Amino acid sequence: MNRILTGIQSSGTPHLGNVLGAMLPAIELSKENESYLFIADLHAITTIKNREILLDNTLKTTAAWLALGLNTTTNILYKQSDIAEVTELMWYLNCIVPYPMLANAHSFKDKLNNLSEVNAGLFTYPVLMAADIILYNANIVPVGRDQLQHLEITRDIAKKFNHLFGETFVIPEAKLKETNVIVPGTDGRKMSKSYNNCISIFADEKILRKEIMGIVTDSKGLNEPKNPQQCNIFQIYQILAPTDDSLTLERKYKNGTIGYGDVKKLLLELILETFRETRCTFNELINNRSHLELELKKGAEIASQTANSVLKKVKNNLGLMGT
Ligand code: ADP
Ligand code: TRP
Repeated sequence: MNRILTGIQSSGTPHLGNVLGAMLPAIELSKENESYLFIADLHAITTIKNREILLDNTLKTTAAWLALGLNTTTNILYKQSDIAEVTELMWYLNCIVPYPMLANAHSFKDKLNNLSEVNAGLFTYPVLMAADIILYNANIVPVGRDQLQHLEITRDIAKKFNHLFGETFVIPEAKLKETNVIVPGTDGRKMSKSYNNCISIFADEKILRKEIMGIVTDSKGLNEPKNPQQCNIFQIYQILAPTDDSLTLERKYKNGTIGYGDVKKLLLELILETFRETRCTFNELINNRSHLELELKKGAEIASQTANSVLKKVKNNLGLMGT
């Protein structure tokens, strides 16, 4: 059996893109493999500097995993910061990571022309990510293309440690989420928290409605023929709808028998229907903070057992304690 591990930053509440592109596929994988899924709150504080926002994001992300159906009896859901060993391991790794390896990371290079905004946490972000993975003996890490370089860095660090101090870490493999859908946002770009173009499927219906009604379209009138392939509403609709419904709607676009306002209403109904149960469970969970905290505590207890035994080996191999 593989040990799958993946982290999701608590930099906001998961949106439709996160749910379809990352969370539901991870839950599918977790049905056949032991999965470690964690909320990367230590990574999130490289950018979030607000106590309430961070706490809120962490609880909502936890509630989202549970509401989407993650089974926490057979898998481990935890908060990164609950396992202090990860920051300890990061220090040990820091001491073998050459400066150019981090200076060449895209996550740092992208910010080169704004260096005063780069804190040391952002610079060493890939080392914490390596520690996240190798502390738990994970062998498969599902990631998007943007995270592939971080996985390469993780592998290099783990191999270097093993070479210098003897076999210590499992060398993890990236599992590229190639076939996944990229969900477009309300403005047609990739849906992303950083573009402010999200469909917040866990938000109140009023907010959800406002976001959907705000989807950008051209100005074609009700009775004009339209091209569904160039329409942001249709692109989102067809990801969720049964094929027959998509085909019917496609015909109406081409015949000019439907307006954008009505398609937006159809999309809203479809989203509410698809996620009715999930949204309901989410709302119950978010009002039961002690249950969410208990779930995270349960996950942390199991994760810390693995972390402890790996860290013991690391310290021993480094010469930090007697054999
Ligand atoms: P965001 O861009 O909103 O900050 P993240 O970078 O935190 O999202 O991504 C978290 C996970 O969700 C990643 O695995 C990423 O591949 C996936 N993801 C994010 N946006 C989308 C999208 N629009 N479509 C499909 N998957 C997405
Ligand atoms: N850096 C990842 C992202 O932004 C999140 C993350 C942190 C992660 N630690 C990880 C993903 C370990 C996989 C494994 O998406």
